[in-house]
Amino acid sequence: MKRNNDRKEYNVAIAGATGAVGIKMIDVLEKRDFPVKNLKLLASASSIGKKIAYRGKEIFVEKLTKDSFKEVDIALFSAGASVSREFIPSAVSSGCIAIDNSSAYRNDENVPLVIPEINPEDVRLHKGIISNPNCTTAIMLTVLNSVYRYSRIRKIVVASYQSVSGAGQKGISELEEQIESISSGNEIKISKFPHQIAYNVIPHIDVFTENGYTKEEMKMLYETRKILHDEKISVSATCVRVPVKSVHSMAVTFITEKNITVKKVLELLSDSEGVTLMNDPSKNAYPMPVTTEGKYNCFAGRIRKDIAFKNAVSMWISGDQLLKGAALNAVQIAELLVKNKILKRDHG
Ligand SMILES: NC(=O)c1ccc[n+]([C@@H]2O[C@H](COP(=O)([O-])OP(=O)(O)OC[C@H]3O[C@@H](n4cnc5c(N)ncnc54)[C@H](OP(=O)(O)O)[C@@H]3O)[C@@H](O)[C@H]2O)c1
Repeated sequence: MKRNNDRKEYNVAIAGATGAVGIKMIDVLEKRDFPVKNLKLLASASSIGKKIAYRGKEIFVEKLTKDSFKEVDIALFSAGASVSREFIPSAVSSGCIAIDNSSAYRNDENVPLVIPEINPEDVRLHKGIISNPNCTTAIMLTVLNSVYRYSRIRKIVVASYQSVSGAGQKGISELEEQIESISSGNEIKISKFPHQIAYNVIPHIDVFTENGYTKEEMKMLYETRKILHDEKISVSATCVRVPVKSVHSMAVTFITEKNITVKKVLELLSDSEGVTLMNDPSKNAYPMPVTTEGKYNCFAGRIRKDIAFKNAVSMWISGDQLLKGAALNAVQIAELLVKNKILKRDHG
């Protein structure tokens, strides 16, 4: 690709570079030609010395420490909430902006929670940290955004079908190893998920809270409210793990303030940034993980007037949660920082 040699470039670090999301971050930075000057790949001590390809070169993985962020402009964190809590303060004190994929800071009122297609202006409110939303919330809201702008959505009832890579590399290995054990007649091992995931579905993601919903389900309510700046919207979610490698899907019913026709929903979605409509029942065309994996856009189909509720529409959504639910959204936030000249390097 031909590159503008005069463009400003930035030092980027990825904490969690060897993980399911981290690997995608490296790929997305390269594919979107993000203006990277130096890329630093950080992980735990067990990954020291591993090499990962970026722009035709191999980069050695280094151990994440509190001193890792000198001269770094943007730190993409994807190593879990406890690692974010331990290391992000040092990254921020070093003068860089941290974009965090974990849940550590999402509910902090001083930390913006951003989906660039929805609330890009919120990046300006940062105090050193910007959070990336929970993967299921990011995919659902990217699709529903244009409908919400047309007529406020008041209630959402959603059941998710979340893939094993949502639980990281170990989630993928557990599904593959269980399938292998079952086909070879060996005993299956269960460690990452609460039950066998091969040939099963598990209606349980994250820990249960006092109201009977899980934390993953409550994230869909709290994060939807924060991103849309709308405390009146309600979300009732049931989050389910399914034996799919990548891509989260969901069955969504939403109730709008004013009546909305299916024709209007189709018109809005066909013109929505980051959304692809795949809605032709006559051709059995609807989104599925096998066709959505690796795609940047989120997909919507099975769009119909809901027959149980007034002013309601039901649909099916699929999105690659390692991309729009994580790596892509994080890189899009970094692109907003560059576009709006928010980074320290832009002022010195
Ligand atoms: N997977 C998804 O779909 C998804 C979507 C949205 C958000 N997220 C969030 O993104 C984060 C990472 O998820 P993932 O799925 O990529 O997990 P993963 O595959 O398990 O990868 C975890 C990464 O964190 C690194 N790490 C773990 N402990 C560390 C430590 N003490 N110091 C430095 N690095 C450490 C690991 O390095 P080693 O390889 O050296 O162990 C690895 O690079 C989590 O917070 C998750 O909630 C994930």
